[in-house]
Amino acid sequence: MEVVPLGSAAEIAAVAADVVEAVVRRKPAAVLGLATGSTPLPAYRELIRRHEAGLGPSYAAVTCFNLDEYVGLPEPEIHEQSYRATIARELTDGLGIRPDQVNGPDPSPDSLPTAGERYEALIARAGGVDVQFLGIGSDGHLAFNEPGSSLASRTRIKTLTAQTRKDNARFFGSPDEVPSHVLTQGLGTILEARHLLLIATGEGKADAVAAFAEGPVTASCPASVLQLHPHVTVLLDPAAAAGLNRLAYYREVYAAKPAWQGL
Ligand code: F6R
Repeated sequence: MEVVPLGSAAEIAAVAADVVEAVVRRKPAAVLGLATGSTPLPAYRELIRRHEAGLGPSYAAVTCFNLDEYVGLPEPEIHEQSYRATIARELTDGLGIRPDQVNGPDPSPDSLPTAGERYEALIARAGGVDVQFLGIGSDGHLAFNEPGSSLASRTRIKTLTAQTRKDNARFFGSPDEVPSHVLTQGLGTILEARHLLLIATGEGKADAVAAFAEGPVTASCPASVLQLHPHVTVLLDPAAAAGLNRLAYYREVYAAKPAWQGL
């Protein structure tokens, strides 16, 4: 795991955009894994800014897979807080990526029992995810794999914790309006992506960051499973990095990183 302490959310956005653009330049038909939430928004805006300025690569041939989706929203295809609508609004529309290039778990009630395996099959058919954006919950969740999730889990339905519903209430009127269920890629699914790009910003993430990066690998902190993946980049602002014991060492490693190596 490469932990990269950076100076600000803006610096993180630039580095994350560099990573994604490099993947798409190298492989125009790249498969991008997309997260929602507040954390990736500066990076998404930076990608759109560069695209609109004619500086980015063409996204005409990419395929996207969303990490997760709420279950139980009215009219999930168009509900403004559905993750399908959020990803279109916050990223893919701005990059000229068509809706048919973007996949998400299917939350329609009749097909829920098979939604997980169908989504896994779609990801496999696309050849797997090349670069996966990730955020982290204040309780250490990864995608919506809440504490206690199997480290080998696959895409399936999960129940959100009261903490996550409270954290996400800012997107809705109140915690009661946040759906209690979601479809989420499993931890085993996420581990199959070739490059994992986790971003954490703000002091509310400091404990979760210290736990997943420097604590034991345990289902009690689902993001700690990333310690088992061979290519993880963790981009942190100073507040999110504040609880790390090896912070000085991570800074030293990044400052001395050979230019040819990249992230
Ligand atoms: C979103 C997702 C979640 C968020 C996490 C952090 O697709 O899977 O794991 O990444 O809840 O959310 P923010 O970024 O809003 O703090």
